[in-house]
Amino acid sequence: MGKKSQVDMLEHSKAKVELLKMYLVRYLNILSLTRFFTTIRIYDLFCGEGRYPNGGKGSPLVILDAVKSSLPVNEKSAAPSKFVCHFNDAKPEKAAKAEEAVTNEKYGFPEHLVKVRFTHEEYASIAPRVIDDIEASRDTRAFVFIDPYGYKHVSVNDIWQLLETGKAEVLLFLPISFMYRFGERATPDPLDKLLNDLIPSDARQFRDERDFIQKLKRGFEKKYGSDTFVEPFMIQKDAGTVYALFFFTRNELGMEKMLDVKWQIDKERGEGWTYEKRSLSNQLSMEFEPPPNPYAEAVWAYIQAGERTNSDMYLFTLDQRHLPKHTVEVLEHLQEDKLIVVEGPDGKPARRGAFYLNYKDHKGKVPDAKRITIRKV
Ligand SMILES: C[S@@+](CC[C@H](N)C(=O)[O-])C[C@H]1O[C@@H](n2cnc3c(N)ncnc32)[C@H](O)[C@@H]1O
Repeated sequence: MGKKSQVDMLEHSKAKVELLKMYLVRYLNILSLTRFFTTIRIYDLFCGEGRYPNGGKGSPLVILDAVKSSLPVNEKSAAPSKFVCHFNDAKPEKAAKAEEAVTNEKYGFPEHLVKVRFTHEEYASIAPRVIDDIEASRDTRAFVFIDPYGYKHVSVNDIWQLLETGKAEVLLFLPISFMYRFGERATPDPLDKLLNDLIPSDARQFRDERDFIQKLKRGFEKKYGSDTFVEPFMIQKDAGTVYALFFFTRNELGMEKMLDVKWQIDKERGEGWTYEKRSLSNQLSMEFEPPPNPYAEAVWAYIQAGERTNSDMYLFTLDQRHLPKHTVEVLEHLQEDKLIVVEGPDGKPARRGAFYLNYKDHKGKVPDAKRITIRKV
């Protein structure tokens, strides 16, 4: 690897482990609080050396930092979850280095709560066992990080099997530029196999890397079915070096937390969306009509098309890749403008500004879960 590509790789790795960390910190904190799961299993199947040559933390340290940060909450819970963290790298010397890096961190985890394992196996031999382990363990949530150097070991079927356990989230790192360059032409075998699984050969024309990522996303969605969320996150420094993290889950709460992270990192998109701007500029100039806020329009159209429960609105929000707080903001405006009625199960008006757009009320598993309906006036 030349100097420039080494520096590029380090930059991309930084973004990659940052997203991994932000997600895990949020998600593990929430899982620690739920009583349904007794074990949280985290697998890093291409774990590398634990630290990058520049001293930056690699995925094993980032994962264990996230586990550590969730322990205070976890230990206070009525039924603390146990963590099983499994790090694997085909190269024995890399797995050994990762173990050494972890030892040097002196985490001091309580043994009854956190178990850490290192193995050095080929992905192809360890993957079926990981799937079986997750399948067989009860009251478990699992997170599987798949971060090979290339695309050779990426198996659409393995990810499908992990999702089929109904207990796993998967995060996959893909070198988009390398794949994209070959994508339209005769391709190396493993890439051809991957693309055959996802994009029909007559649809293999791509405008750019972004378009390629979207087509991969649609391919995964088609393969895994409508109950699977597939969320790509593009990492790009300049044209020609694009990577992407693909997140897969069938769990709404997992998806909500990933969107939370995306909106936090993708400040432009997050800040670009605000209902306030519209009314503010209306106040400043009567002539100037700013473009309508597309998300607010979409929420309004969804309500106009039929009566919706808070659960419907929660799922709609995730499908639109937004956060509950965004939808709440729109609903508040619609309520203020007297365009909607919001009622509780008894048919009486619900408390003003209470929309209950969250996972718990959506699932309705807790005894005090709230149910409201929203319809246009
Ligand atoms: C991109 S690096 C991992 C970096 C690490 N996840 C991080 O973020 O710090 C990919 C690793 O996969 C390992 N690897 C390559 N082929 C493998 C295989 N077939 N099975 C398991 N590990 C493999 C390599 O030795 C390398 O350390």
